[in-house]
Amino acid sequence: MSEKIVYSALKPTGDLQLGNYIGALRNMVRMQDEHTCIYTIADMHSITVDCVPADLRRRTYEFLALFLAIGLDPNKSTLFLQSMVHQHAELAWVLNCNTQFGEARRMTQFKDKSAKNPENVNVGLFSYPTLMAADILLYQADLVPIGKDQKQHLELARTIAERFNHRYSPTFVVPDGIFNTHGAKIQNLLDPTAKMGKTDDNAGGVVFLLDDPDTIMRKFKRAVTDCGNEIVARADKPGITNLLTIYSVMKGITVKEAEQHFVGVGYGDFKMAVGQSVVDVLAPIQARYRELIANKAYLDQVLKEGAQKASYMAQKTLSKVYRKIGFVTPK
Ligand code: TYM
Repeated sequence: MSEKIVYSALKPTGDLQLGNYIGALRNMVRMQDEHTCIYTIADMHSITVDCVPADLRRRTYEFLALFLAIGLDPNKSTLFLQSMVHQHAELAWVLNCNTQFGEARRMTQFKDKSAKNPENVNVGLFSYPTLMAADILLYQADLVPIGKDQKQHLELARTIAERFNHRYSPTFVVPDGIFNTHGAKIQNLLDPTAKMGKTDDNAGGVVFLLDDPDTIMRKFKRAVTDCGNEIVARADKPGITNLLTIYSVMKGITVKEAEQHFVGVGYGDFKMAVGQSVVDVLAPIQARYRELIANKAYLDQVLKEGAQKASYMAQKTLSKVYRKIGFVTPK
């Protein structure tokens, strides 16, 4: 593939979990060597739900240190904080004015979140997808590595880009989502019919990237399996399928190869092997994380340099947009 512009972001609400790693972060790391990558900690998205300021501050640094520990490299990628680049909010306003109320209302994430938290259905939650579209379109991104749960938002971003291009003349690249062939949706270990999420009520079924080995093993030991005793990936076996997916990603093998590996093995041993494969991948990441989180000066430097680079790129697009929609910039 020729060099492309890649954009993705994670929002620091709740702690990073295995689904984020498998669905998004791993691909983000992989793409750094071939493409121009721009990766954001989406703190402005975090305040669309109740958010304690001290937690947001702490998580912002934790996210950055984990990004670096996982292998995102500030010498290869632009890493920055969304709130440090004012063009995101500015483009989001313009895109709000090019998005229909009915389109935003149809977003499943908005419907789910407002049903879950009826006392805080704020306007920011409603316009969350237009801020996300602004994130992506500001950098003229070609590719957006994300998990399946963000697919609908990406499609809206594409629609908005196409509409704007049609209305004002070509301005934005229309981005494509990059999804894993497997692992685009990791399920909760205690409820394999539901997505694993940072802020799940069912936290016992969520593996956080900073969980210690004992906690990880305990979570896998309790993982819900399915009836029967066959270890195969099948629609009627969501628990086993999820565990096989996790194992295959951790080991870098296919799901078929993972199935073959576990022929004749009991569910108990299988779950322990999956847990161990996760511990093996996370242990070195956690060791690097502990060094990085202790070095705030370095983390601040990464954020400042990243924001400077991002702002330069973002301003090019924003100026173009302002000109096209008729905003005047006196000479
Ligand atoms: P967020 O922070 O909820 O999730 C970050 C990324 O992790 C993926 N993901 C999963 N993938 C597989 N299985 C799971 N269980 C799982 N849980 C989460 C998500 O799909 C996502 O790719 N709105 C975005 C953040 C964002 C963004 C953007 C993303 C803001 N602006 C621009 C891409 C482009 C979000 O809340 O992701």
